[in-house]
Amino acid sequence: MSNLRLAIVIGSTREGRFGDKITHWFADQARSHSGFDIDVIDLADLPLVAEGPQRGPLPAEFKEYAERIGAADAFVFSTPEYNHGYPASLKSALDLLGQQWWGKPCTFLGYGGISGGIRAIEQLRPVVGELHMADIREAFIAPFGPWGFFDKETGEVTDPDAEATVAAVLNRLQWWALALSDARKARPFA
Ligand SMILES: Cc1cc2nc3c(=O)[nH]c(=O)nc-3n(C[C@H](O)[C@H](O)[C@H](O)COP(=O)(O)O)c2cc1C
Repeated sequence: MSNLRLAIVIGSTREGRFGDKITHWFADQARSHSGFDIDVIDLADLPLVAEGPQRGPLPAEFKEYAERIGAADAFVFSTPEYNHGYPASLKSALDLLGQQWWGKPCTFLGYGGISGGIRAIEQLRPVVGELHMADIREAFIAPFGPWGFFDKETGEVTDPDAEATVAAVLNRLQWWALALSDARKARPFA
């Protein structure tokens, strides 16, 4: 049986962002998890915000993005918290596609100040539900991520439980990804 494909989407596109650092660390953890092949999709590489949602044929510059999302069996959305919400880049990336999301599970990697991105994550849950995704209960959050997730001198992760938490989140995501992958094969989601 081939591995499930996990797309990890970096939601922050800001100059000098923290998002790429914590997301690549998360992706490294996910690579050591035997259940998934990992594809990291960086929204900074896409002209999403300017384009806005599409109806009808997708412009050519989004074809590769659509294919990578369509090939995935599960998603992790990495999100910072900006003014208690999630970035426009992430909303644009979600709105741009349709059936590529359908019938697949997702979770979140949140970070920010005191909330660890929880308020952004809670706002994303109804959005992914509208796109027929199954958001799982477990998520990874990093309160004060930019200021303390990595030790300033050694670069090591300061939370001793972080790796175990990622593994627990991915184990749950894998359960849903397997179940929904089988379900989509048995009955195409339409
Ligand atoms: C415009 C702006 C608004 C922010 N609002 C919040 C907030 O409401 N809650 C929070 O916990 N952190 C907030 N922060 C802190 C960010 O979540 C934190 O700086 C994070 O690193 C931003 O992600 P990025 O560096 O990947 O872009 C805000 C930061 C910015 C730039």
